[in-house]
Amino acid sequence: MTTAAVTAERYRRFAEVEARGYSPRYEAWCLAISTDGEILEFLGTLPAPRRQPNLFLGAARFLGVQIGDYEGFRSFVLDRSYDVRQVMLQRSTQTNEAGRCAVLLPSLASISAEEGRSLALIEVGASAGACLYPDRYAYVYSPGPALQPPGGSAVPAIECSVSGDVPFPATLPRVLWRAGIDLNPLDAGNDDDARWLEALVWPEHSARVERLRAALDVVRADPPLLVRGDLNEQLLPLLAQAPPDAAVVVFHSAVLAYLDEPGRNRFRATMLDLVRDSGRAVHWLSHEGHGTLAGVSGALVKDPQERDGRFLLQYNGQAIARTGAHGQSIEWL
Ligand SMILES: C[S@@+](CC[C@H](N)C(=O)[O-])C[C@H]1O[C@@H](n2cnc3c(N)ncnc32)[C@H](O)[C@@H]1O
Repeated sequence: MTTAAVTAERYRRFAEVEARGYSPRYEAWCLAISTDGEILEFLGTLPAPRRQPNLFLGAARFLGVQIGDYEGFRSFVLDRSYDVRQVMLQRSTQTNEAGRCAVLLPSLASISAEEGRSLALIEVGASAGACLYPDRYAYVYSPGPALQPPGGSAVPAIECSVSGDVPFPATLPRVLWRAGIDLNPLDAGNDDDARWLEALVWPEHSARVERLRAALDVVRADPPLLVRGDLNEQLLPLLAQAPPDAAVVVFHSAVLAYLDEPGRNRFRATMLDLVRDSGRAVHWLSHEGHGTLAGVSGALVKDPQERDGRFLLQYNGQAIARTGAHGQSIEWL
């Protein structure tokens, strides 16, 4: 297949699998891109990992493209191709979605309750750190409970539709310590970083933008420890800093797709060692796309071909739920 054909297929797949039913504008734009020779040629001038739909669309949005018909998008990116290219080379898809806390929360609360201790959270691939505050957000599960921190939350409630027997807690777990690792930690207090995170939110998702802004306020007010570096290199040193009296949870969401297969296998082996053999109890929550997991040796995905855009939540390597990729739904297995 030619480069253009591979890119075209990637955009068509993104339109049909990820955007359909979730972002009509991105679905339309990406379908049009998949048959637009001039745009495919432009994308072909970028290194392969930089041709991602989310990166291209985010770069155009960061530079101010109007959300409208494809012709407007097309002429904007062709007129501003130098700037679009620069943003695509300098930035990465680092979407930070606090909504994902809704699907992590039941497991986090169970871990804390079973251990009878507060949590120490380590997020690998933390972006700006917005997922490190599950104790500061409010949640509305339907059907299910509405939960919020004792003093309420300044962040609009995260809504999550539910199927199956989700083990809801009565209250939010306490978090004693929070830390993250990222190749390029974003700074919630930096205007350009905040604007980039907003540009990565899909166009019709205005509630997600509102939530992102409020979540970044939470991060700014009480910043987590964010370590710059590769998760495989930084995890063990960071783990050594976790307070001894807390239940340690290492988690990640939409991160493993960015690792090559040896990197994913190394991480998985480290985590399995930690959950089985470590001197202290370490818990592992993985929230990743099916496609990513299918590339991992020994992944516990029944059907590696299954790619409906949903994510799989795993606890200590065992599948426990299917979820909406941004935390909008949870189906307990
Ligand atoms: C799509 S974002 C997800 C952010 C966050 N986990 C969330 O769910 O909102 C993926 C993040 O993983 C980071 N990342 C990718 N590869 C990494 C690696 N090898 N080590 C550390 N961070 C990595 C990226 O920089 C990016 O911030």
